Amino acid sequence: MTRVLVLNGPNLGRLGVREPEVYGTATMADLRTAVEAWGEKLGLTVDVRQTDDESVLVGWLHEAVDAGAHVVLNPAAFTHYSYALRDAAAQVTEAGLVLVEVHLSNPLAREAFRRHSVVGAVATGTVAGFGTDSYRLALEAVAARPGRAGRTGGPPGEVLGVDSPENLTRNGLDGPAGAPPRSGPRPSPGDRPGLPR
Ligand code: DQA
Repeated sequence: MTRVLVLNGPNLGRLGVREPEVYGTATMADLRTAVEAWGEKLGLTVDVRQTDDESVLVGWLHEAVDAGAHVVLNPAAFTHYSYALRDAAAQVTEAGLVLVEVHLSNPLAREAFRRHSVVGAVATGTVAGFGTDSYRLALEAVAARPGRAGRTGGPPGEVLGVDSPENLTRNGLDGPAGAPPRSGPRPSPGDRPGLPR
């Protein structure tokens, strides 16, 4: 089975009580339960962890490299300034493993200091802004790349493992940070200026 470490940084142990208007009301225990269920459905062995300690997080990334495990990483505030974490994350993708950076909120829509990630450039990809559903989308991305994908993750624009817009929201936990289910017709490619037809 494909193994995935789902790693969470500082203050994420406070989910549920910490700024629920930003991060939703699901606790870390709720998130763990949901991630384990999603992992099982996707045929992934997931291991969900949280720490407030930078060196512990760095050690877990080293462990992922040594064990050949893919990583879903919410670096929390370390996202914005921890070069130690960035260098450890780089080792994961350098080893050809998938590392998906996830965020519950959309940091690009928040304070200026959150708009830069030092991890993003060494990640395979990033999912942000969908509440706890960000983790499900990240797991789907890992499951769609059972081999080793490293930093590029596949050709740009490749659509893997997504069968319908309804399925994109089927298992999300509700919360202010989650996106509402899409309703109504999807725009056709012709409606989106700048996209190749
Ligand atoms: C976060 C966003 C970070 O800016 C913040 O420091 C967090 C949580 C998120 O999941 O939205 O702790 O990573």
